[in-house]
Parts: sequence; C-alpha cells; structure tokens
Amino acid sequence: MAQHDENVVWHAHAVTRAEREQQHGHQGAVLWFTGLSGSGKSTVAGALEQALYQAGVSTYLLDGDNVRHGLCRDLGFSDADRKENIRRVGEVAKLLVDAGLVVLTAFISPHRAERQMVRDLLAPGQFIEVFVDTPLAVCEQRDPKGLYKKARAGELKNFTGIDAVYEAPVAADIHLHGEAAITELCAQVMAELQRREIIRA
Ligand code: ADX
Repeated sequence: MAQHDENVVWHAHAVTRAEREQQHGHQGAVLWFTGLSGSGKSTVAGALEQALYQAGVSTYLLDGDNVRHGLCRDLGFSDADRKENIRRVGEVAKLLVDAGLVVLTAFISPHRAERQMVRDLLAPGQFIEVFVDTPLAVCEQRDPKGLYKKARAGELKNFTGIDAVYEAPVAADIHLHGEAAITELCAQVMAELQRREIIRA
C-alpha cells in the first residue's frame, strides 16, 4: 500500500472538536459493536441509534452489510480483506468522532488485533467496545440471511464461526447478552454512556 507523501502536511482548522461537541451538547465517541453474524449487532445498534436520536444526540451508524456495498465493495472475507475493511471503517469512525458524533459501528470484526488497532486510532475513552454475546448455535438457528446454511453446505468459504475464527473480546467495555430483549440492551448502553459522561443524563 502506498505510504503518504512527506510533503503532505496536517492542517489544523479553526473550529475544534471541543467546539463542535459543545454545539452538539455531548461528546464524540464510537460504540464499536462486535459479534458473530446474526448475533444482533445491527439490530441493537439500530434501536440504540433511534433512542439516541430521540434524546437529541447526533449519531451516525456504520453497518458492515451497507459499507460493503460502497466504501469497501472491493473487499472480500480473507483475513487481509477483513483487516482492510476494519482499518477503513476505523478511519471513517475517527473522522465522525472528530465531527462530534456518537458513532455506532456494526461489523463482525473477528480479530482482537484489528479492534485494538481502531482503539489505538482514537483518544482514550473514545472507543467503546460493545460485545454482542450470542452463542453460535443461536446465531445459526436465527440464520436471517441463510448464510450459515450455505457455509455448512460448503457453498460459502471463510464464514465466521464455521471455518473462520471469531476472537471474542476478553474485556469488552460493554458486554451484552444477545438473547435479552432489545429494549433492555439499549437501556444498558444508554446508562453506560451517561455514566461515562458522553451524553447527559
Ligand atoms: S468483517 O469480518 O469484515 O467485520 P462485516 O461485518 O464487514 O465482516 O460483514 C459481515 C457480513 O457479511 C455478515 O453479516 C454476512 O451477512 C456477510 N458475509 C458474507 N460472507 C461472509 C463470510 N465469509 N463471513 C462472515 N460474514 C459474511
């Protein structure tokens, strides 16, 4: 990959993140949802975004299934492509946090190293890892897109949880039990955002 040119210099603009955050009335941060396909990442992130929106919080949701139609349409599911997927999303999330938004991301992001890479891109406290912990058997039973069935039949290779690894977080900032009610899970995350003083109570 091309490295950036030494003649490209960072430009500090007049309006700061702190000023943008003040205008929004809350801090910028990323809620990084990770979990198996079918664990409920997108569903919980979507419901939570709705709750945040209703509370007057400026949000943006980045979802794997959607981002892979545009920004990451050239990427597949090899380890290298997944890494590049997460790198790009991490950089976009960082820009949106700089804009002062509460960013929700819903990507399997199966490797600890890549999730750590995104954490390291951001300032301390800005990256909040949310583990949607749903047993593989439950995800496979839900199988909303029929992909587990295809993976078991050998028609889909490198499928996370079947023939590709998922490294569960060892110390997620927020641990969600994926079989609980969506409203409960949203309330759990909202309370944590208030406790961390990212949004006002
Ligand atoms: S990640 O591993 O790079 O983080 P991402 O979240 O963007 O994955 O995309 C996952 C979605 O792509 C799944 O929800 C599923 O719908 C689809 N998908 C297609 N092929 C695969 C595969 N081999 N492994 C996992 N998900 C896949």
